[in-house]
Amino acid sequence: MFKLTAKALTCALSLLVAGMAQAADPITIKFSHVVAEHTPKGQGALLFKKLAEERLPGKVKVEVYPNSSLFGDGKEMEALLLGDVQLIAPSLAKFEHYTKQIQIFDLPFLFNDMAAVDRFQLSPEGQSLLKSMESKNITGLAYWHNGLKQLSANKPIREPKDARGQKFRVQASAVLEEQFKAVRANPRKMSFAEVYQGLQTGVVNGAENPYSNIYSQKMHEVQKYITETNHGLLDYMLITNTKFWEGLPEDVRTELDKIIVEVTAEVNKQADDLNQGDKQRILEAKTTEIIELTPEERSKWRDAMKPVWKKFEGEIGADLIKAADAANQQ
Ligand code: LMR
Repeated sequence: MFKLTAKALTCALSLLVAGMAQAADPITIKFSHVVAEHTPKGQGALLFKKLAEERLPGKVKVEVYPNSSLFGDGKEMEALLLGDVQLIAPSLAKFEHYTKQIQIFDLPFLFNDMAAVDRFQLSPEGQSLLKSMESKNITGLAYWHNGLKQLSANKPIREPKDARGQKFRVQASAVLEEQFKAVRANPRKMSFAEVYQGLQTGVVNGAENPYSNIYSQKMHEVQKYITETNHGLLDYMLITNTKFWEGLPEDVRTELDKIIVEVTAEVNKQADDLNQGDKQRILEAKTTEIIELTPEERSKWRDAMKPVWKKFEGEIGADLIKAADAANQQ
């Protein structure tokens, strides 16, 4: 009898200890991304880790995996849905399988500058896009800037006709494919991790990226020219798995939400400086000539690419395009 009671007591005690250990285990948040650390997104992920671990000690642990080291951009969304990663920030070009509306951000020459991008992202229409995939278990937490894209190639490209027949790497986006077809170039979808090699081996002749992605992936070493077109946007949506986020303890979620507001402000403030710094570093490397366009040359690109808007108006919605365009005028 005594023997049995002792056994039961040991069992109950070990269950209790296990339960306590479990309660004390920090929640692990894996944040996977495809770019280098010295980029707007790379820095944002590290700042999120720092603040989350400082302010929620013992409650949250953040693991950051840069440079496609955990998941490449073909797999990260699936991994988020499967719960293998809890935070990712894909570029806005990578959402077309989840919602067609987010394609709006890929329309060429949509925003005059980053201030217009900010106004649209903060507008009710921009904010509603963050919530547009919740039925698919994806919650948008914030928009993070990288910046405007430049065209790189191995021949000088000044006017749309110079791009004819050139093979350009594009992200997985139908809008971006159409954008290059509009100037009679050949778009080729390729994941980010493959771009350097694609350029090096000539599988593609050129690409479109902000300066920070060009420099941090060393693309300037395999591209002789960059044309400063500022023709389109490369920004991100920081997203999480809706069920995971809603299942977090209330105090943890509230603190993480606050941290994200802070990190977002910092990323968006620093992104342009980072891009301009990397433009200087590319110039100093003397590998690549940067071609600046005259206003007349730039309008030729706009005229050639803008018909793409009409092609996607049905999927994106004319009202949404109007709201984004209006952000230029405010
Ligand atoms: C790309 O594939 O070019 C970008 O989406 C990479 C990134 O995340 O900045």
